[in-house]
Amino acid sequence: MLRIAVLASGRGSNLQAMIDAIAVGTLDARITGVFSDNAAAPALRRAVDAGLPARALDPKSFAKRSAFDAALFGQVEASQPDVIVCAGYMRLISAPAVRERRGRLLNIHPSLLPAFKGLHTHAQALAAGVHEHGASVHFITPDLDGGPVIAQARVPVLAGDQADSLSRRVLAREHLLLLATLRLFAAGRVALLGEAIHVDGRPLATPLQLAANNDFP
Ligand code: GAR
Repeated sequence: MLRIAVLASGRGSNLQAMIDAIAVGTLDARITGVFSDNAAAPALRRAVDAGLPARALDPKSFAKRSAFDAALFGQVEASQPDVIVCAGYMRLISAPAVRERRGRLLNIHPSLLPAFKGLHTHAQALAAGVHEHGASVHFITPDLDGGPVIAQARVPVLAGDQADSLSRRVLAREHLLLLATLRLFAAGRVALLGEAIHVDGRPLATPLQLAANNDFP
């Protein structure tokens, strides 16, 4: 069974999607713990309510980012995860901590990467006037929001969309995208070999696209 550690800084709706999918049997996995840089994160409450280990570490108690990451990932690895999912984890991870976990660290980002890295992605998409927006699940590398993209969900931008309305529609697809991608991991179908993502033993030329049935074609 796939063992998932979750890093989250805020609301935790992606975490909740994982908890719910595991509960109803649509994701064959176990969450080994939920870890945060924010003791007030609603994600931690969701973890506790689901009976999961929940830990917060305060970055202000550490002199350096690398010391914080060493302490955080010490706790994360003690829970023995196969993969570590950043689900709304809003803190930069130091390059050595990323490199040590190559191929095991995943992030969900609310844009069709490489478009709109960083923050306020929905506002960025509206300002750019694109007709399509969405979300991506990618392997984390030291390059912020720049690691190899495994899968994406596309969402049309509608006339009159505001950042709020667009973000609500993207978030709904984002949850389904994360679950579909984690099912691939649970089935042992994805690996990062060198720079290339492999699915079912073959290199992936372009990211998988979530279809209307909430799975990959
Ligand atoms: C999600 O939209 C996630 O993609 C985004 O933060 C939100 C967290 O929501 N992550 C990033 O922007 C990372 N760069 P959640 O706490 O409800 O899962």
